[in-house]
Amino acid sequence: MGTALVTGAASGMGQATAAMFLDRGWRVLGLDITANLGIDHPALTALTVDIRDGEAVSAVVGAAVASTGIDAVANIAGVYPPTTLQTFTDEHFRTIFDVNVLGLLHVTRAAVAHMNPGSAIVNFASVDAFTVSPGQLLYGASKAAVVMLTKELALELAPRGIRVNGIAPGWVDTPGNAATGRMAEAAASIPLGRVAAPAEVAEWVWILTGSGMAGFVDGETIVMSGADVMR
Ligand SMILES: NC(=O)c1ccc[n+]([C@@H]2O[C@H](COP(=O)([O-])OP(=O)(O)OC[C@H]3O[C@@H](n4cnc5c(N)ncnc54)[C@H](O)[C@@H]3O)[C@@H](O)[C@H]2O)c1
Repeated sequence: MGTALVTGAASGMGQATAAMFLDRGWRVLGLDITANLGIDHPALTALTVDIRDGEAVSAVVGAAVASTGIDAVANIAGVYPPTTLQTFTDEHFRTIFDVNVLGLLHVTRAAVAHMNPGSAIVNFASVDAFTVSPGQLLYGASKAAVVMLTKELALELAPRGIRVNGIAPGWVDTPGNAATGRMAEAAASIPLGRVAAPAEVAEWVWILTGSGMAGFVDGETIVMSGADVMR
């Protein structure tokens, strides 16, 4: 049992990951810009902060962390507004890169100060880091940056006994995807014939962190796409 810091904990895969750690008896620091995480559990502490604000992130993480430190970090908070060369604005660019890339670095820097040897970080990328999706000009680039940061951070943190890996999901049954109304159509085009459940993605966060099964896996990003995207 340990302590996990999970970002994006109010929705989708972040919420599923927070629930997964709680089910396994871990303490969870659930970080989100939204105060209501939608989970009520005595071992869950809500950290309400915008990950774009590095000083605020360090302050809330530092105030919440106990002397036992942090054993797992799941960087899951992200935004995915569609953009093309024709439609993107500077504000789109800043929002997508500030949340998906700079925000991830803010959280990682704040957490690493409290992480124990043998602990691990999982960064959420996307299949859009590896393949081309129409209308995802900036999102795909931001997630490619996450894949590369995962490698760089793995190298930098290995001497401290902290592993850093990534998960690149394809289609997942999250509220955001459900709202597109395109889930059934997407499932039909995936070789395994379905989209992923948030809980099965969360299970891979466990495999890469607290399970003890992935102690020699470091700097890798795992694609979970039902054979939709292979590399
Ligand atoms: N849903 C998918 O099919 C899919 C596929 C590939 C990759 N991803 C990636 O997986 C991650 C989770 O996706 P999801 O669909 O479960 O997400 P979601 O949209 O359901 O939830 C994202 C959470 O992040 C939080 N958040 C957004 N900006 C924030 C900020 N500045 N500070 C703090 N919190 C912030 C939101 O409040 C929300 O609770 C994201 O990084 C996403 O890019 C999702």
